Amino acid sequence: MNILVGITGGIAAYKTPLLVRLLRKAGHQVKCVATRHALQFVTPLTLETVSGNKIYADLFDSNNDHTTEHISLKDWGDMMVVAPATANIIGKMATGIGDDALSTLLLSFMRKPIYLAPAMNTQMWECPAVQRNIEYLRCIGIHIIEPASGDLACGTTGTGRMPEPEEIMQVLSSATRKPDLSGKRVLVTAGPTYERIDSVRFIGNYSSGKMGFALAQVLAEHGAHVELVTGPTALKINHPNIHRVDIESAREMYEAATAAFPTCQAAILSAAVADFRPDHTADHKLKKQGAEGMTLTLVQNPDILATLGTMKTQDQTLIGFALETDNEMDNAHKKLEKKKLDYIVLNSLRDAGAGFGVDTNRVTIISRDGKTHATPLLTKGQVAEEIVNYCLGSKS
Ligand code: PMT
Repeated sequence: MNILVGITGGIAAYKTPLLVRLLRKAGHQVKCVATRHALQFVTPLTLETVSGNKIYADLFDSNNDHTTEHISLKDWGDMMVVAPATANIIGKMATGIGDDALSTLLLSFMRKPIYLAPAMNTQMWECPAVQRNIEYLRCIGIHIIEPASGDLACGTTGTGRMPEPEEIMQVLSSATRKPDLSGKRVLVTAGPTYERIDSVRFIGNYSSGKMGFALAQVLAEHGAHVELVTGPTALKINHPNIHRVDIESAREMYEAATAAFPTCQAAILSAAVADFRPDHTADHKLKKQGAEGMTLTLVQNPDILATLGTMKTQDQTLIGFALETDNEMDNAHKKLEKKKLDYIVLNSLRDAGAGFGVDTNRVTIISRDGKTHATPLLTKGQVAEEIVNYCLGSKS
């Protein structure tokens, strides 16, 4: 793989040459792009020696082959990692500023995988503006390698350290094992469904869509065309390989998913679909019913995953999710069998940091032949990488 390593001006830049060496050792080609401030912490000669390539730092370097070399680098690179990433480069990325070689390259690279390893003082990391920028970058599919806790260069202890190069390599390793899914079409369902009670109320659930959007992003980065059918969510996604279909109810999701599935080679159903809906939707706002209250009659929604299980041909791979609160493995195995799946991804609400709304998840992937693959608590982007590599890796 061709990997671009961005370096910005933080003390952790002294560790970046080791990361470059590890990437080279793993068989990758590396080119380094540094900011002016980064070169206060690490010399061009060191980076050029470990990467085996000249370093890019200046937008208008007369040694460049041509003046838009920083842009042509985007065609060369398959993936970019910025380590360390300062609050400054994070802010520039989040607001679309390109005023040097690295920030300009990052803006042109947004449709390929970018990993950021933020490193800064704890107060800076916790600053609401930095957290807002990080949250936005996550939303548009940038992978954030969480900073570690420990002693910081400023003499304090807290969160903000750049993880060790070996730890960054671990995060990158599943991304660099990417199966090539170009030419494949994959259906992904995401988010909640809303089942209308009247013109202002609905039955819904806590799904944010983060897991499904992470899957869509990773699949698109692997080259797949993604049909993303999503329930109501505030999330945005912007990748040329992703076709987004917004729906509201389980029946609308059913229509969109069953229409798309026959043209897809795989489907991953991560949506939290309402199993029931009110038997009747009032077209006006229902008024208070008095002290005796109100009874809603619910009728069953179609099971989208089970329907795709009956439609599935031998060449298609069907992956479902199971969100459980007890008897997790047992229930997941039953769903795998009953819905005729190839894989089921189990997540449990008993695991802290897993499930609805959060940016992290911990899953066990169970395959039809009984094999299991459990992940630690990872970001949803990393979990998506694990799912795609494990379930679709051999099919590329
Ligand atoms: O969106 P996030 O906030 O990131 O949260 C992610 C998540 C917790 C929603 C996700 O990781 C997850 O677990 N999704 C599945 C939730 C769920 O509804 O699980 P279930 O065990 O009830 O359903 C089993 C499977 O059948 C799921 O693949 C579901 O999409 C599918 N299903 C369920 C009911 C139905 N009527 N149709 C379906 O297709």
